[in-house]
Amino acid sequence: MIPKTPLPSEPHTGPQRAVKLAPSLLACDFTRLGEELRTIEEADWAHVDVMDGQFVPNISFGLPILAAARRASGLYMDVHLMIESPERYLRDFAEAGADGLTVHVESTRHIHRAVQMIHELGKHAGVTLNPGTPLEAVRPVLGDVDTVLVMSVNPGFGGQKFLSGSLERVRTLRRWLDELGSEAVLQVDGGVSAANAHALAEAGATCLVAGSAVFRADGGAAGLERLRTSLTGVPQT
Ligand code: DX5
Ligand code: ZN
Repeated sequence: MIPKTPLPSEPHTGPQRAVKLAPSLLACDFTRLGEELRTIEEADWAHVDVMDGQFVPNISFGLPILAAARRASGLYMDVHLMIESPERYLRDFAEAGADGLTVHVESTRHIHRAVQMIHELGKHAGVTLNPGTPLEAVRPVLGDVDTVLVMSVNPGFGGQKFLSGSLERVRTLRRWLDELGSEAVLQVDGGVSAANAHALAEAGATCLVAGSAVFRADGGAAGLERLRTSLTGVPQT
């Protein structure tokens, strides 16, 4: 039998976009930050979760830890600001070594201005929203940002369960970005693991943040490898 050659008009099967992996340092052993960063050298980004005890009910770490991570690693520092009025600190985080700065739409009265400020600092700008916030809240800035982050848990803590409704939110944002012709990274954060990574890529995500799934079992390198294996068939960056 002659093998069937797919015609160009046939629909593609499976995700066609490359997916970045961004381990969250929140789950790593801070006494060994430099070593932990070395275990994830093969990652695409390092995700840095900053929490102020106001915007979210937890305090994580801030500028000195970002600066230390920056000194210890050449990885792209993807900084997720879970802080009130992030405009006040954008310059500081940029100077401490952020490559990308993501702000919550709920944390500022002026999301558009915050995005502009990040760009003026020469950094990639991201916007994100809590699971309870309608997607429409980020729509006005979708054409201006480099990253859109779908929170798939309520922000504040690592190790929470993935909220399954997030898949539909990723699909909707994928459609909106495609309609705009935007190449923005569509990132997902919270409860991501080898069990849902492939489905998220199918839904159109292009960057997966994972804390516990990378660092909490048998170490960063093995955790990363498990995620990559679960993405078999998805183009890798
Ligand atoms: C939650 C943080 C996440 C968190 C993810 O507020 O934004 O980045 O570290 O951790 P896991 O992957 O354990 O859900
Ligand atoms: Zn995060």
